[in-house]
Amino acid sequence: MTDTGRVYIREARVEDSPALSRICLLTGDAGQSAEHLYEFGELVGLMYAEPYVHLPAGFGFVMVDPSKSDAVVGYVLGTADTRLFEQQASESWFPEVQKRYPHPPRHPQDPNRPLRPADERYIRIIHNPPRASDLQIAFSPAHLHIDILPEYQRQGWGRRLMARAIDHLKERGLDRLWLGLDPRNESAKRFYQRLGFEGLEGAPDGVMGLNF
Ligand SMILES: CC(C)(COP(=O)(O)OP(=O)(O)OC[C@H]1O[C@@H](n2cnc3c(N)ncnc32)[C@H](O)[C@@H]1OP(=O)(O)O)[C@@H](O)C(=O)NCCC(=O)NCCS
Repeated sequence: MTDTGRVYIREARVEDSPALSRICLLTGDAGQSAEHLYEFGELVGLMYAEPYVHLPAGFGFVMVDPSKSDAVVGYVLGTADTRLFEQQASESWFPEVQKRYPHPPRHPQDPNRPLRPADERYIRIIHNPPRASDLQIAFSPAHLHIDILPEYQRQGWGRRLMARAIDHLKERGLDRLWLGLDPRNESAKRFYQRLGFEGLEGAPDGVMGLNF
């Protein structure tokens, strides 16, 4: 285990984008690394991490490790207004990303080269981004994502990052949030349950909510 004593939390910035995408990929297969599944590993972060630091409706906090040249080693990213965030993403995030990865999905550098199934699936997703259900929005306009690199897990940082995000949402007058997880990710489910999250009745499997 690393000495994580000097790790601290600060607000996320646009310049953190590559690190956020990297963490997203390294935790992207139900909590484990998804690196082996992709040729274009940035796709996961382009969908689930980077928009939160680029769009005005997003917010984020990151863990920084001074003993690793101030590397970003974990994050919580979210929005206090999911519908506004979705609108901003469709107007000023996805069009650029879609240009980089055109539809119908094909290899961006060589159309004759087959795409890997995970890359193809994400290219389809960025051309048709999912919207939160009305039920989720009725529960709360706020949602978030949290991911921490393996060597910093199970040392209280998830709880601390979540507390920072909750303070941020409280300052905006909110008292609930929801998030989605891969139903295969039993470990994350136990973490969320420990923090008081419960499944949202009527929502898809893996959507959990918290009253705070
Ligand atoms: C899930 C994750 C964010 C949790 O953060 P963490 O720093 O490891 O968790 P913490 O150490 O803050 O744990 C907080 C509490 O949850 C409990 N907990 C955490 N993981 C647990 C697990 N797998 N099983 C049971 N309890 C768990 C801890 O025991 C702790 O309880 P306590 O404070 O009452 O003693 C982190 O492990 C992670 O990033 N995992 C990989 C990516 C991932 O799955 N992200 C979620 C995607 S939806």
